[in-house]
Amino acid sequence: MNNQPAATNDSIDGENSSPDRVLIFDTTLRDGEQAPGFSMDLHAKLKLAHALEELGVDILEAGFPQASPDDFNAVAKIARSLTKTTVAGLARCVPGDIDSCARALEGARRSRIHLFLSTSPLHREHKLGMSKQQVVEAAARSVERARELCHEVEFSAEDALRTEPEFLVEVFNAAAAAGATTLNAPDTVGYVTPAEMFEMFTYLRKNVRNAENLIFSSHCHNDLGMAVANSLAAVSAGARQMECTINGIGERAGNAALEELVMALKVRAPHFRVSTGIDTRKLYPTSRLLTQLTGQGVPRNKAIVGDNAFAHESGIHQHGMLKHRGTYEIMHPQDVGIAETSLVLGKHSGRHALRERLQKLGHTPDDATLDGIFARFKALADQRRDIHDDDLQALALGQDPDT
Ligand code: KIV
Ligand code: ZN
Repeated sequence: MNNQPAATNDSIDGENSSPDRVLIFDTTLRDGEQAPGFSMDLHAKLKLAHALEELGVDILEAGFPQASPDDFNAVAKIARSLTKTTVAGLARCVPGDIDSCARALEGARRSRIHLFLSTSPLHREHKLGMSKQQVVEAAARSVERARELCHEVEFSAEDALRTEPEFLVEVFNAAAAAGATTLNAPDTVGYVTPAEMFEMFTYLRKNVRNAENLIFSSHCHNDLGMAVANSLAAVSAGARQMECTINGIGERAGNAALEELVMALKVRAPHFRVSTGIDTRKLYPTSRLLTQLTGQGVPRNKAIVGDNAFAHESGIHQHGMLKHRGTYEIMHPQDVGIAETSLVLGKHSGRHALRERLQKLGHTPDDATLDGIFARFKALADQRRDIHDDDLQALALGQDPDT
């Protein structure tokens, strides 16, 4: 196969060097783990935490210490065993949560308390029963308390994207004045469109005081299938932290998928003009590790890490790929840690792919022989979902693959 770089796989080197850095905040072990079917024991969490550190995530949210003794223990163990990554713990804006989060994070090389408080009218009225003033005061008070107990504080305005923008600015101003350095505006219910996301982050960066010294963060849920697009829209509007999970796991329909975000920024680097610290060759192994630890696979057609992400069956596509891989691939499988593209032989495949596979198996049939093999191959492919190399060997040798 032609091993030229894919035609559209842009590079961030050369004249586009020194792009802004986007921090990757991984919440697989918190938002991801709290989704039904994805719980992990301590051993599994530690294994995944180390893999995430090797992958190059900047901040790893290890859990919600006040939620349960198991969560506390996991955050404490992870905080003490990572050597490069900032470890975050989640806490509500109440003293008990903040103090237990700080205790769990003790010993971390770098610790972050991640505070959250709802700001939208719906949540203020029905969930919190708090006035706007009470929300602002609780946010500021909690950041002040947390600030003394860890290296850095992030403040999240839960349901931010359904909050009045002027009020969101007021809450963020109070949190930043109290010492928060990262301000996260989550699309908690996966409701907005990319255009709305762009508008909100542009507005926040324009109106929050001292915005140039703060990091704005996205945290998008996937209820309408727009979590990745919305996170990228936030980056286009100046967000410099993205919260995400491996395989996109998380509450309900999940969070923005880390592997999709990172590869979108890499493949379309000249468009976004930002970089991450992720070693993309570890994306697929990390995704596989998570599926092993949770027993939950990913769909075949999942972007970047699904079985079909670099597989081609149709004859027209296979023919194009054999001439130049850029015809139907925008990135190399090796870039994400997958050994090679697979040209899957099935009922949609053509003679070119069959000839190439037979050659790999040591057969070089002349055109007339190939015609015969191809006809028997098509007949077999109509009956079978999968055609294996053993079947092709049998066909090439004139034998019956079913005996
Ligand atoms: O979705 C959400 O709003 C959250 C916050 C706790 C950040 O997960
Ligand atoms: Zn969330």
